[in-house]
Amino acid sequence: MSGPNLRRAAAARAVDLVTDGMRLGIGTGTTANAFVLLLGERVRAGLDVIGVPTSEATRAACEAEGIRLTSLEECPELDLTIDGADELDGHLRLIKGGGGALLREKIVAHASRRMVVIADAAKHVATLGAFPLPIEVNLFGFGATFKAVQKAIESAGCAGELALRKASGGQPYVTDGGHAIVDARLETIHDPERLSALLWAVPGVVEHGLFLGLASGAILAEARGDEAVVT
Ligand code: A5P
Repeated sequence: MSGPNLRRAAAARAVDLVTDGMRLGIGTGTTANAFVLLLGERVRAGLDVIGVPTSEATRAACEAEGIRLTSLEECPELDLTIDGADELDGHLRLIKGGGGALLREKIVAHASRRMVVIADAAKHVATLGAFPLPIEVNLFGFGATFKAVQKAIESAGCAGELALRKASGGQPYVTDGGHAIVDARLETIHDPERLSALLWAVPGVVEHGLFLGLASGAILAEARGDEAVVT
């Protein structure tokens, strides 16, 4: 059973949660993209929904599928957001932003009554932190912000290396919002709430990839023999 099949199995269960008239938040990443493809099929079969995409990549994918889009200006409250995650724990705390869309993803999730995560069950962990935590920072004052982020991480009792994310050409990666991303390799985040509060206290930090208290459910797919089992 391959990763794409597992992602598709989780996405297929999520599409079943979508009903006529819903205002959707639509996530970013390969799993969210599997959801977009299946949602597109339903839309072409007559399902009437409107969505807010969490990235320019998702916007393009939705447009290609003929999914009607809106913005949080026109539609500030959403019924349901479906999105992937890089890690999730037993309290539905998440690390997101591996694909760089964490800021829009968090704004959209926060505007939604429900956020349901779709993922390969391998992303479920006992303690968050093996996946590097993305921290989106303003370019102005980058050096000072980088140091302050390092200090905040130490104060939270975490240790690890920080690296400016690079694009494939070697230049700094730039988010849809025009910011940089620092990836923090922490291995273990014992107190995500404390780390979140300390990072938010740093001027220049635009957002971080800890999603706490936002997800209300998770659809996880794992391989059992040749089958994808969804829980
Ligand atoms: C995008 O910024 C991320 O938050 C993704 O939702 C996350 O990285 C999961 O992506 P995949 O579904 O591609 O693993």
